Amino acid sequence: MSLVGKLALVTGGASGIGRATCRIFSKEGASVIVADRDPKGIKDTLDIINDKSKEKHLGVELDVTKSSSINNTLEKSLEKFSKPPSIIVNCAGITRDNFILKLSEEDFDEVINVNLKGTFLIIKTFANSIVEHGIQNGSIINISSIVGKYGNIGQSNYTASKAGVELLTKTASKEFAKLGIRVNAVFPGMIKTNMIESVPDKVKDRFRSMIPMGRFGEPEEIAEAITFLASDKSSYITGASIFVTGGF
Ligand SMILES: NC(=O)c1ccc[n+]([C@@H]2O[C@H](COP(=O)([O-])OP(=O)(O)OC[C@H]3O[C@@H](n4cnc5c(N)ncnc54)[C@H](O)[C@@H]3O)[C@@H](O)[C@H]2O)c1
Repeated sequence: MSLVGKLALVTGGASGIGRATCRIFSKEGASVIVADRDPKGIKDTLDIINDKSKEKHLGVELDVTKSSSINNTLEKSLEKFSKPPSIIVNCAGITRDNFILKLSEEDFDEVINVNLKGTFLIIKTFANSIVEHGIQNGSIINISSIVGKYGNIGQSNYTASKAGVELLTKTASKEFAKLGIRVNAVFPGMIKTNMIESVPDKVKDRFRSMIPMGRFGEPEEIAEAITFLASDKSSYITGASIFVTGGF
């Protein structure tokens, strides 16, 4: 699944699934733009993936909810690589869990802004640049969630944002097919990252008992599916929703 010669942007690259994706992309030969709002996490990811002798990758502080920050990320990419990334992974995401009766408007808005609007803003900015530069084989991978398919108690904001990501993906795939850009979504189940650390043990046990494979996933197991969708091995796949859930 070679990505030699490719340039990839990974939002949320400072942690969890995003970091694992940066690692596998770089192992497959890609240059990676590690973009996140967490500068310390960006540095740690770069330390993991950078060959000591040369700076093949780039770290950029990014807030996906702000157009100015996204434009700055694009400018830095063009400065260093003289081209935009042809692979875009929308992995930045947050949760602010609460029951609907208690959920604040701020927490609803914040989750929609990061997970759904942030994905839209990144797609718009970077797809425009891919087209302007005449790049013919773009691949955008958006990270949804299995709970965005079925709902989950205490996550109305998160599940709605992730359901939105699926339909944003399908619409973008239809609009971009003639431009040579594929757009797909990956739906992780329960994956061992910081995101699920705050989930109470009782809830985790209940989830685990519903997973046919009987365990949570590793971030790398999501990153491998993302890498397949990023590579030319998936050249006829667009508008797809791929579940990586241990059968959940
Ligand atoms: N862990 C799971 O079980 C699971 C399941 C389904 C889907 N997901 C999705 O996978 C993606 C990655 O999550 P993870 O589990 O690796 O979590 P994580 O918390 O380890 O990583 C999320 C990253 O997103 C970054 N981020 C948050 N807001 C941002 C913003 N406004 N701008 C830029 N970066 C921002 C964080 O700094 C962090 O580095 C998310 O979209 C999440 O919703 C995770």
